[in-house]
Amino acid sequence: MQMSRSPAIRVVSPDDSNTPAPQQRRHAHGSAEVVAEIGAGLLAARPYISPKYLYDGLGSKLFEAICELPEYYPTRTEAAIFARHGGDMARAIGAGTVLIDLGAGNCAKAASLFPLLQPAQYVPVDISRDFLTEAVSRLQQRFPEIEMTALGLDFSNGFALPDSVRHGRRLFFYPGSSIGNFSPEQAVAFLRGLRDNAGADGGLLIGVDLIKDSAVLDAAYDDALGVTAAFNLNMLRHLNHLAGADFDVGQWQHRAFFNEEGSRIEMHLEARTALTVRWNGGEREFARGERIHTEDSYKYTRQSFVDLLERAGFSSAQVWTDPSNWFAVIHAQVTPS
Ligand code: TRP
Repeated sequence: MQMSRSPAIRVVSPDDSNTPAPQQRRHAHGSAEVVAEIGAGLLAARPYISPKYLYDGLGSKLFEAICELPEYYPTRTEAAIFARHGGDMARAIGAGTVLIDLGAGNCAKAASLFPLLQPAQYVPVDISRDFLTEAVSRLQQRFPEIEMTALGLDFSNGFALPDSVRHGRRLFFYPGSSIGNFSPEQAVAFLRGLRDNAGADGGLLIGVDLIKDSAVLDAAYDDALGVTAAFNLNMLRHLNHLAGADFDVGQWQHRAFFNEEGSRIEMHLEARTALTVRWNGGEREFARGERIHTEDSYKYTRQSFVDLLERAGFSSAQVWTDPSNWFAVIHAQVTPS
């Protein structure tokens, strides 16, 4: 295989007669597909790794720790908005919805709203079904009147809901500003998909992180204790496990900064020195300072996000924020056609 984009890249394959020494096969715990996906990202002209690989066992715990940091305001600020305005939200939405919780995890955010929202059916959706099933069986005992249907699926590339999800008034719940991890174009496409699944009387309750002083943003993604750095760097250990890679974590550093023009925080891993990374089936040289892009986190103004919702087919937006206007929770309805 010949890579034309970057001269620093050499892919080693068994039939490559120019290969000086046979590539040592490293043990990869990921499927061939996963190894190929990781390899393709590392070999790109601008190297990248999908943010989903941030979340192995340790990564999930480090992210929970991030949410407790004084610098990481989104989780806490969103919770304060729900605590203060949950009643108003519930009045705007009305009882008896089919509440579809995207990326539900331990279901705690939605569960704290049950007494106010009083949904008829609760549908938590998450990649990890085992985790969900456990959380849901506990919740079901606390709220026996709510029908609960857990769905284990990856909804990030669009999805169709199975028949077990009722056709009542559907409300998609998408908190945590996870929408910011899509580009604005991807976000519109994703929200259109929700609208298509919501039905004519459907709605959306979504958390959105707002543009603010860039020092506040930078600190939220590069905290003094270095927990965020550890979270980002842990991805390299995960790649070693999945792809049989030989990343030396000490040779890399966490980089996060607000890109004002793009209105996004960019997360990268940067080589501290010139180095070579090998994995099962490939290798790449990195120059000192060269980066692997790991995630973007787009930030919006109230108006820019309401505009985005309109493009996606949602209107009548109601916006609740905190006193500093750092974060917004928005309810919007499917635009009548
Ligand atoms: N989705 C989170 C966010 O955008 C993820 C996150 C927080 C993150 N800190 C990070 C991702 C650091 C990579 C690196 O807020």
